[in-house]
Amino acid sequence: MRKKIAAANWKMNLTWQSAGDLMNAILKTDHNLKDNQLAIFAVPFPYLRAMHEKVLGKAHTFIAAQNCASTNNGAYTGEVSAEILKSVGIQYVILGHSERREYQAESNQLLTEKVNRCFEHGLIPIFCCGEPLSIRESNNQNNFVEIQLKESLFHLSKEQAAQIIIAYEPIWAIGTGKTATSAQAEEMHAHIRSVLTEKFGLDVANEIPVLYGGSVKGSNAAELFSKPNVDGGLVGGASLNADEFNLIIKSLP
Ligand code: 13P
Repeated sequence: MRKKIAAANWKMNLTWQSAGDLMNAILKTDHNLKDNQLAIFAVPFPYLRAMHEKVLGKAHTFIAAQNCASTNNGAYTGEVSAEILKSVGIQYVILGHSERREYQAESNQLLTEKVNRCFEHGLIPIFCCGEPLSIRESNNQNNFVEIQLKESLFHLSKEQAAQIIIAYEPIWAIGTGKTATSAQAEEMHAHIRSVLTEKFGLDVANEIPVLYGGSVKGSNAAELFSKPNVDGGLVGGASLNADEFNLIIKSLP
């Protein structure tokens, strides 16, 4: 059964003290997650191990990294490898967030390498895709996202593909307060699933959660998640507020 996921992306926010306070406030809430529902928190690197230990007793709750290196261990100062992440207990890694594509010039080809490092070390990529405003305005978003998926994921085996999580995050909706309508999200998610079906077959495509990201809030999550191909959200700003994120977790179908 396809997983439904509320994923927090804290980005480069929160001090150690405020991160702990936020996580404690969220964890003391009983989310009553069902077997196919997950809460995932992508936290800054220095907090990974401690946050992992904090969520160990909490059902269906996991910690993710926000990035990993494209290479294996070696002389790469400042990088963090998939193997290092795995060794501290991490299971999920956000890859290809639009902020990294823009500010760190991450290409679809580089992301192929990062995806490979994740699979080599037993990590699950939360693979981000999504178009800028200019592409949406010229109505080329389907093709744009299809190329992102093809160039970074189409080399995977069916077994690998069945494990990934995809996050569709239209860049024009990130941090802007301008959420895609649930109809726009559903249209793209259905397209993503059809692209995945064509390559990996219906059984595999039906296993892959496709999350929506871009100004998800407590007040719009239930409507977005009510769509058949929207399997939850990847949440930035609203994940920094315990009440908001609790509401988003509770909105999972
Ligand atoms: P916002 O929820 O702040 O729009 O950010 C979305 C995002 O980039 C999550 O990865």
